[in-house]
Amino acid sequence: MTPKPQTAAIQVFKHVTRSWFVVTYAGQLIFAYYILMLYWKSAAFGHFEKWNTASHFYVKGDMVGNLVFGLHVALAAIITILGPLQLVPAIRNKVPRLHRISGRIYIYSAFIISAAGLYLTWVRGTVGGLFSAIGISINGIIIIVCAFFSVKYALQRKIKLHNQWAVHLLLGMSGVWLFRVFFMLWMVIHRAPVGFDPKTFTGPFLNVLAVFVYIFPQAIVALYFRAKFSGSPSKKWAFSVLLLVITIAIAVGTMGAIKGMWLPRI
Ligand code: HEM
Repeated sequence: MTPKPQTAAIQVFKHVTRSWFVVTYAGQLIFAYYILMLYWKSAAFGHFEKWNTASHFYVKGDMVGNLVFGLHVALAAIITILGPLQLVPAIRNKVPRLHRISGRIYIYSAFIISAAGLYLTWVRGTVGGLFSAIGISINGIIIIVCAFFSVKYALQRKIKLHNQWAVHLLLGMSGVWLFRVFFMLWMVIHRAPVGFDPKTFTGPFLNVLAVFVYIFPQAIVALYFRAKFSGSPSKKWAFSVLLLVITIAIAVGTMGAIKGMWLPRI
């Protein structure tokens, strides 16, 4: 029997969303592995000079800056591993206590990692120009706003709203990872630094990329909920096609990041 158009649209929508989740979580776990091996491991053995593999993150004499950076990357690994698990319905339903405990860790970490990131950006100074500093700061503000509403609606037991803000938060928290993935996708395509200066890490491509990875995903989440709650199969089909294209791009970019960025540094 051929499925009704609505049923087929729901099935495809579910499969594509799950595929996106699997590809994204696999990529984020590899990013977390990179953070653990490069930053946690070298800190554990006292080899802080290894923090400078990607850029100058360990500065002799800057105790506060080093501590803030250490805290930032310590939390980066934790939130990258925990975040996507918060969205798995089986965990939420079967072990709600685990969801609540890990949710608290995630939300506190969201505030702290963003505050630490803002310190690194505006007090310590970062690679890239003013536009990239503004871009990542917008990401930090998005994270703080989404974390606030996510916890507010959880405390008020408005679960549907809590879930929606939690997905917005996950995408906000994934901004830094998405930046690396889409940056490497661009490098895979062009095989050369096109649209930016590799020495100063500034240029039009990086400005567009910042908007694409920090702001655009929030619109995608809004579209996802529209398609999910809509009775129209065409909205589900359209969103499924869009998410499928994004998932393929993420898969290719992740492979590029593993080969060209994360593995060579650890
Ligand atoms: C919430 C998710 C975040 C994760 C997982 C994360 C992860 C990381 C990692 C792994 C590094 C070390 C660089 C590398 O090895 O690639 C780093 C550096 C840095 N992060 Fe974050 N970060 C996050 C959020 C933020 C936010 C919201 C800000 C700013 C408001 C920020 C600002 C910075 C800065 C300034 C550096 C130093 C690198 C540079 O100078 O560009 N991060 N982050």
